[in-house]
Amino acid sequence: MERMEAMQSFEQIFGEKAEDLFTAAGRINVIGEHVDYCGGKVFPAALNLRCNVYAKKRGGNKIRMAFRGIDGIVEIETDKLDSYRNLKIGNYQAGVAYYLQEEGVEIVGCDLFYDCTVPFGSGLSSSAAIEVATAVTFCEYAGVAYDKVHLALISQKAENGYAGVNCGIMDQFASAMGKKDHAVLLDCSTLEYEYVPLQLGEYCLVVANCNKPHNLVESKYNVRRQEVETALKTIQTVLDVKCLAEVSPKQFTEVKYLLSGVVGKRAEHVVMECDRVHKAVEALKQGDIVELGRLLNESHYSLRDLYEVTGKELDTLSALARKESDCLGSRMIGAGFGGCTISIVKKTAVEGFIRRVGKAYQDVIGYKASFYETSIEDGITVEKL
Ligand code: GLA
Repeated sequence: MERMEAMQSFEQIFGEKAEDLFTAAGRINVIGEHVDYCGGKVFPAALNLRCNVYAKKRGGNKIRMAFRGIDGIVEIETDKLDSYRNLKIGNYQAGVAYYLQEEGVEIVGCDLFYDCTVPFGSGLSSSAAIEVATAVTFCEYAGVAYDKVHLALISQKAENGYAGVNCGIMDQFASAMGKKDHAVLLDCSTLEYEYVPLQLGEYCLVVANCNKPHNLVESKYNVRRQEVETALKTIQTVLDVKCLAEVSPKQFTEVKYLLSGVVGKRAEHVVMECDRVHKAVEALKQGDIVELGRLLNESHYSLRDLYEVTGKELDTLSALARKESDCLGSRMIGAGFGGCTISIVKKTAVEGFIRRVGKAYQDVIGYKASFYETSIEDGITVEKL
């Protein structure tokens, strides 16, 4: 939705003009999947697909929210923030307000129009984008100074404690801290981070959504978390480690016998994926895009065979990409069970790639995949309108 259109919608709905635009980004993850909650390093980047919040401060105790494409207004009151956990739309916002208020931030009444261009359920973190953009909005209107990393943590808290998804920190961190044309190498156990230029030479990343209908991702995700926690507890009986990411591949081969089938597979994925992150970042820094592509493929196979979070749609989409001679690697990103893949494709070949992979995918799966035009952008933006 163009900005003018969004501003017109705001005025029609709320009867006054929007005054501010706060945005936060959706994200891709180059590599490091399902390791953030194991203390591993991840390598995400913020996208041009974003949650845009058109806003006007009003004062009082009412937050009125409207959403592009959805009729009606959702209203929450700042003195009842504990009571909106079951809202279908608006619960992320209420959760963010709830935890900010708990910290002493005064939540001020306002009108908000959400234009979220991150497709929902796509594995590109629309929820993190909504949370982070909302957190910025409330802090700006409270007139408090805020630290972006802290906003990411508050947003994660809202998703864990309020929306009930036991996610790690990767998405909210990328959404808040992303930097134009860079990926963020984030150590999820210390929150230390480094920006690495995402320069792929004559190649680029193509983001494709398998469009599998979204179902039960949250509960399956929470099960994976329990499985790796079980693995960690067992490994801790013989190794002095704080998290699975600290276990080296060599150590893992020595302790693997302690773990039962499924739990062993999950832990093996985490250990090997952490190792791949280091290798991938090195490859990227050296300009070795072929090696980066190979590691992306390995990541996908591991998510398919060991972590078991892919499914026919993501496997088909990434396999079709890999068959293309101008594609160096492809993998699912995010929680999995549906959502998106990223593929490294020669810039000059993107059009044909999309056409052929799109057609073959539809032939096999029976419905279309979507391909997005993406660029890597800053995380949070704040603008007066
Ligand atoms: C989801 C979660 C993240 C991360 C990824 C998998 O996107 O929100 O915290 O665990 O899945 O890497």
